[in-house]
Amino acid sequence: MVISCKGLIHLTSGRNVLITGASRGLGEAIAREFGKTGANLILVARSGERLAALAEELGAFAVAADLADPEAGAAVLRAARERVERLDVLVNNAAMVGPIGKFWENDAAAWAETLQVNLLAPAALMRGAIPWMGAGGGGVIVNLSGGGATAPRPNFSAYATAKAGLVRLSETLAVEAAELGVRIHCVAPGAMNTEMLEAVLRAAPEAAGGEYGKAVVQKEKGGDDPAVAARLIAFLASDEVRGVTGRLISAKWDPWETMGEWGAELAGTDIYTLRRIVPEERGKKFE
Ligand SMILES: NC(=O)c1ccc[n+]([C@@H]2O[C@H](COP(=O)([O-])OP(=O)(O)OC[C@H]3O[C@@H](n4cnc5c(N)ncnc54)[C@H](OP(=O)(O)O)[C@@H]3O)[C@@H](O)[C@H]2O)c1
Repeated sequence: MVISCKGLIHLTSGRNVLITGASRGLGEAIAREFGKTGANLILVARSGERLAALAEELGAFAVAADLADPEAGAAVLRAARERVERLDVLVNNAAMVGPIGKFWENDAAAWAETLQVNLLAPAALMRGAIPWMGAGGGGVIVNLSGGGATAPRPNFSAYATAKAGLVRLSETLAVEAAELGVRIHCVAPGAMNTEMLEAVLRAAPEAAGGEYGKAVVQKEKGGDDPAVAARLIAFLASDEVRGVTGRLISAKWDPWETMGEWGAELAGTDIYTLRRIVPEERGKKFE
């Protein structure tokens, strides 16, 4: 449920942008990136004080809400509607790692809560945001993908399941919402040294399995820069790539900076989408 709303949004002629999980990590970087474009920011997270400080700095409107509450998505949109007439951009960035360890040993309630925060809350926000954006002439939604969306992530089944579901939901809604002028993308931001990494490092190494060793190395070497993923998200929300929708783009591995030149070629293809691999694609043929 919405706990509190702070900050007076300083409305400019810029776009109205709602970002969840904006109190730290990648979400903060996304807020700063859109802030540079003169956007009117609506920032969502649980931690009221931290969020309020950032909102004050950026002249944003802060909505403190716990997305683990099934009613929170709709309540956040109600709070946003009181401040802005139109919604141009929604970034579903908030997420939690969830229970770490074998699926059958995970706490069932914690597993379900992870699905709520990482999949059902973004779905609830999209359910309200898509028609709202459509009524205003269109908009862009960017959902954050994550480890497990495109390959198994053992010992992180709730996180992986939610992220894979979010990518497929995004692909599906991109088709449904195209007639409303709403584009929907997913972004794989890279491996960043945020609080999410600390959550893996706090887990028992045997519970986290192979991800623990990877996290130790990432912590030592330094992770990917959240500012790069933030720039990609702002780019996908820009007019430069208006014709492109329903794609999962990697901040680290895809040549997205030049998408303005080749993005139109994606239409009608399954490039940058989740699909089943058949034997022929791996040089095999089973009779
Ligand atoms: N870090 C990585 O390497 C990595 C890799 C791939 C994908 N991603 C994705 O990138 C996104 C951002 O991750 P991050 O690394 O920046 O994580 P982070 O530092 O842990 O930040 C998560 C954000 O979500 C908010 N949040 C968490 N639970 C919430 C809840 N129940 N209700 C409302 N807000 C909640 C947190 O604020 P409060 O705690 O104040 O609520 C925080 O602002 C996530 O979707 C993640 O899955 C991250």
